Amino acid sequence: MSLFRSPMPFSLDARITRAYAACLGQHGPTPQGVFWNSAKTQSARFAALLAAISHAHTARQSGGAPLIADMGCGYGALLGYMRGRPALADWGYRGVDVTPAMIRACRAEFPDMKAHFTIGKAPPMQVDYCLFSGTFNLCLTPDAARWQRYIIDELAACWQASRHGMAINLLCAREPVIRNNIYYASRDAMVAAFEAKFGNVTSHPTRQVKHDVTFLITRRR
Ligand SMILES: C[S@@+](CC[C@H](N)C(=O)[O-])C[C@H]1O[C@@H](n2cnc3c(N)ncnc32)[C@H](O)[C@@H]1O
Repeated sequence: MSLFRSPMPFSLDARITRAYAACLGQHGPTPQGVFWNSAKTQSARFAALLAAISHAHTARQSGGAPLIADMGCGYGALLGYMRGRPALADWGYRGVDVTPAMIRACRAEFPDMKAHFTIGKAPPMQVDYCLFSGTFNLCLTPDAARWQRYIIDELAACWQASRHGMAINLLCAREPVIRNNIYYASRDAMVAAFEAKFGNVTSHPTRQVKHDVTFLITRRR
């Protein structure tokens, strides 16, 4: 991909931010502007993650609708998706992204929610669940083991701010591999790592999205 041919800045975060800002600049606030192939698979991922959180929240009988942090919110497509669904109208939403250009796009798209979007890599406050859709798919290192460690480290900061759990999707393959700058995790290795570091884990293939797996991590009680 031409976006990655120029010399890369040193830190992983700087590489990620630069690549996403360039993609948004090229395609605008659209699924293609965050490296998705289509709106259909983008929405299918949202549906699976929200269903996992909804299920967990109902099982906890905690009362009230959950507050979620959309970690790696891109241009805010999840908020648009939620607004189209009355069953989610009571859910609280915060959007967080490491790429400043993405947060600018969110604030332009949702002027009434400007204060609910922040630049960063962890929620600005305690939330019930952190949600990650495609956040770790683009991988700008050739070292798959390093990328898995990076994912776990990023999640650890968010786990501290998650009262009940986290929902995350990852592309998966038999062995961890990076193809065309896209990371494919080992489902079993990820389940083991999440259980060792965080809480109880369930995982399901994401409906309608080839190779994608939706993981739900919940706090042990
Ligand atoms: C593939 S896009 C998905 C955007 C959005 N979740 C969606 O589905 O439309 C991934 C987004 O995650 C952001 N991102 C990557 N790593 C991140 C991190 N560690 N913390 C917060 N945001 C991150 C990128 O800037 C990018 O906007």
